[in-house]
Amino acid sequence: MLKKQLNITYEEYNSDNELPLQLQNLVQQARKISEQAYAPYSRFRVGAAVLLSDNTVVLGNNQENASYPEGLCAERVAVFAAMANHAETNIKAIAICSNPMDFETNVPLSPCGACRQVLAEYEHKSNQHITILLCSLKGHIILINSVKDMLPFHFSAENLSE
Ligand code: THU
Repeated sequence: MLKKQLNITYEEYNSDNELPLQLQNLVQQARKISEQAYAPYSRFRVGAAVLLSDNTVVLGNNQENASYPEGLCAERVAVFAAMANHAETNIKAIAICSNPMDFETNVPLSPCGACRQVLAEYEHKSNQHITILLCSLKGHIILINSVKDMLPFHFSAENLSE
């Protein structure tokens, strides 16, 4: 038996203006688009802003459905739209912000496992790290440098063949 340990590094910020300008803008766009989320069932709105390698920004927010499981998280709405429309680019960064309708929080949003897996796919495909910014409305931000740090032991194309 061999015991091993994984360490992850992340950065914490208390407000947007501690970030480089391009990432400040991304966070602000994620916050803004969260206001247009369609979340009548959970009342938990989420916004996501994807920064591409050509500096295009693609936005998304969560889209819910009366048949609950058919809804989709903000991250996947934004990432799939980005990759559908800009297939020749890579994802450089994504900012994700929760905007609950019924309470206030300074706790940055933690993406669900399915969205981490989707991000892992594009990081793997491009072989370029994706910076992930987890944001609250109030300004507390966590910056993670790679999807690998959020989803160790993830399933990838490499697992599909010998
Ligand atoms: N949600 C997201 O959009 N992203 C996440 O990372 C977590 C959860 C959405 C899904 C659902 O519409 C609502 O938040 C409550 O779970």
